[in-house]
Amino acid sequence: MLKGKHIILGVTGSIAAYKSAVLCRLLVSAGAEVKVVMTNLAKQFITPLTMATVSKNPILVDFFNPENGEWNSHVKLGEWADLYLIAPASANTMAKMAAGVADNLLLTTYLSARCPVAVAPAMDLDMYAHVATQRNMEQLKQDGVHIIEPGSGFLASGLIGKGRMAEPQDIVEAVEAIFASETTNHQKKKSLEGKRFLVTAGATIEPIDPVRFISNHSSGKMGYAVAESLAKRGAEVVLVSGRTALEKPQGVECVDVLSAEEMFEACVERFSKMDGAVMCAAVADYTPQVVAQDKIKKNDDDMSIALKRTRDIAAHLGQHKREGQVLVGFAMETENEEQNATGKLAKKNLDFIVMNSLRKEGAGFRGDTNIVSLIDSHEKVDLPLMSKADVAERIVDKIESFL
Ligand code: PMT
Repeated sequence: MLKGKHIILGVTGSIAAYKSAVLCRLLVSAGAEVKVVMTNLAKQFITPLTMATVSKNPILVDFFNPENGEWNSHVKLGEWADLYLIAPASANTMAKMAAGVADNLLLTTYLSARCPVAVAPAMDLDMYAHVATQRNMEQLKQDGVHIIEPGSGFLASGLIGKGRMAEPQDIVEAVEAIFASETTNHQKKKSLEGKRFLVTAGATIEPIDPVRFISNHSSGKMGYAVAESLAKRGAEVVLVSGRTALEKPQGVECVDVLSAEEMFEACVERFSKMDGAVMCAAVADYTPQVVAQDKIKKNDDDMSIALKRTRDIAAHLGQHKREGQVLVGFAMETENEEQNATGKLAKKNLDFIVMNSLRKEGAGFRGDTNIVSLIDSHEKVDLPLMSKADVAERIVDKIESFL
C-alpha cells in the first residue's frame, strides 16, 4: 500500500518527536519515500542527523538552506507529496494550522499541500482536553485533515491521561487506511447515483407537559455522518432527524421531528420510495400516556408517570420491506451486546445491524468516534476505534454489498 508513495513527515516540538525516527523508518521500510520537515523547536527533541539518516533525505527546516542559500520550495514539496503526515503535532502547530498561520516551512508546506493531510497530536492531557485545542482540532477536521487519535497512558509530565502520540505502528496503519480510503473514495465516487435512502438520526423528545420531556443522549453525529456518506456517493438522502444541535448536511433533504410517533409517520410515509434505510436514531421506547396541558405542579408527594409503548419504526419497516430494499439498524447496548444485537437483527428483519456498546471508551453517544461491529446473518465484523465519518463509510460500503 505504501510502496512508491511520497510522504512528507512533519515533526514539531514535542517530547514524542523521539518516536518520529521509528515512524520514519517504518514508512521507509514499507516502501514509501519520506522527506522530513522539522520546526526549529523539533530539533531540540530529535536531531536532524537522526531524521536524515532514517529518511535517507536531507532535512528541511528553514525557507533557505543555510549552507548554500538554496530555496526550500514549500510549493514544490506540497505538489510532490501523496500525503503530509505531521507526527507529533503539537497544540501550537495545530492552532496555527487551524488559523492558517504560515510562519515556518512546516506550516507553509501545509498551506501548499494538495494531498491529504494527517496529524498525530501529542501533548499533555490538560493541553489536549483544553477547549481551545479541541476547537482547533474540530476546525482541522472540518478542513479535511485526518486526526490520528492520541492514546492514553503515562505522559512526559508524569500525569496519566489522553495525549500520548499514537504508537508508530498504529500511525502507519492509519496512513495505510487513509490511502485505502482515498483510493476507494475515488473509485466509489457517485457509486450510489440514482439510489434513494432514508436515514434517521438524533434523539426523540417525548413531552410530559409543556415544560418537561423524556429523551436520551444522542447528538445525531453518527446518523448525520451516514447521511453525508450516502450523499457523497451520489445517493438522494432524506434525513429524518430528532433533536440535535448539528448543522444540516449539504445535499440532503432534512425532515425535523420531535417525538417517536412523528418519526414513525415521517419514515413510514417515505420508505416505499427508498432503496434502503439506516435507522440510527435513538428512539424512545416509551412515551407518557397523557401529556399534561399545563405545567405539572409539584407537591410533597412522590409521583409516577404512566408510560405507553411507542411504535417500533425499524420493526415496522422490516415487516413492509420489499425485495431489494436494504434495512440497517443500530443497537446501543450496555450488556450481552452480541446476543441483544442479534436478537434485534432477527426481530426487526434487518439486513444488518451496527452494534455499539456504552462499555467501550470512545463508543456511542456524543463523541466524534465510535467502536462498532457490523453483524448480519452470516458474519460479525469488529471495527476498531474510528471517527464516526469513517464508521459511516464502512456502513455504506456494506450497504453497497447488499444492493
Ligand atoms: O447520535 P450520536 O450521539 O452520534 O450517538 C450514536 C448512537 C449511539 C445514537 C447510535 O450509534 C446508535 O446506537 N443508535 C441506535 C440507538 C438505539 O436506540 O438503539 P436500540 O437498541 O434501542 O434500537 C434498535 C434499533 O431500533 C435502532 O436502529 C433504533 O433506531 C430502532 N428503533 C428503536 C425503537 C423504536 N421505537 N423505533 C426504532 O426504529
